[in-house]
Amino acid sequence: MTDIRTPRLVLRQWHDDDLVPLSEIHADPVVMRRIGDGTPRSVEQTARDIETWEEEWDEEGFGMFAVELLGSGELAGAVGLTVADAPAEIAGQVAISWRLGRVFWGQGYASEAAHATLEFALQDRGLDRVVAVCHADDRASANVLGKLGMEPEGRAQHPVHGHDLTLYGIDLTQYEG
Ligand SMILES: CC(C)(COP(=O)(O)OP(=O)(O)OC[C@H]1O[C@@H](n2cnc3c(N)ncnc32)[C@H](O)[C@@H]1OP(=O)(O)O)[C@@H](O)C(=O)NCCC(=O)NCCS
Repeated sequence: MTDIRTPRLVLRQWHDDDLVPLSEIHADPVVMRRIGDGTPRSVEQTARDIETWEEEWDEEGFGMFAVELLGSGELAGAVGLTVADAPAEIAGQVAISWRLGRVFWGQGYASEAAHATLEFALQDRGLDRVVAVCHADDRASANVLGKLGMEPEGRAQHPVHGHDLTLYGIDLTQYEG
């Protein structure tokens, strides 16, 4: 996989020295409150996440990208694609997601990385559909999804804590339209 460059970012594979900055992002309860079981993750759990993402890259030809700032070389977070395992309504479909360190919010980086990821999915990888799942009260993610042209398509409940979720999707034909 070659790196993807956007005006301000590089989306790339994971390096060993990403573990410390990603663990710092994963230690922040505000970043993690709508991811997985909603709790912060340890360095060990973060190492397992990176391993899982690398395996997904090997098996599927897509996965979560490390998002690096071109200017400073800092790791801003992770944006990319995973095969969703929950909620049941989208299980098995390819989902786009994002998490950035709090200092990187409000600067358009999530949208910039997500646009490049969607183009990678639908144009380079030839997928014909990408979905997303977002907590119903997650206005920042809903804003990013709206800018991507992804439409709300349904509702579901979080399989662990029962929160309301909104399901989004975009087909290749909608993307190209
Ligand atoms: C979701 C999340 C990634 C969104 O980050 P974000 O910074 O709000 O999103 P963006 O990067 O698109 O930035 C949005 C704002 O940046 C500003 N912005 C946009 N482009 C910009 C640019 N080129 N230069 C400077 N600022 C810019 C704008 O104010 C924009 O808001 P607007 O679209 O309403 O005008 C972030 O809140 C996060 O990591 N949350 C925790 C993880 C999480 O819950 N993930 C969801 C689970 S899938």
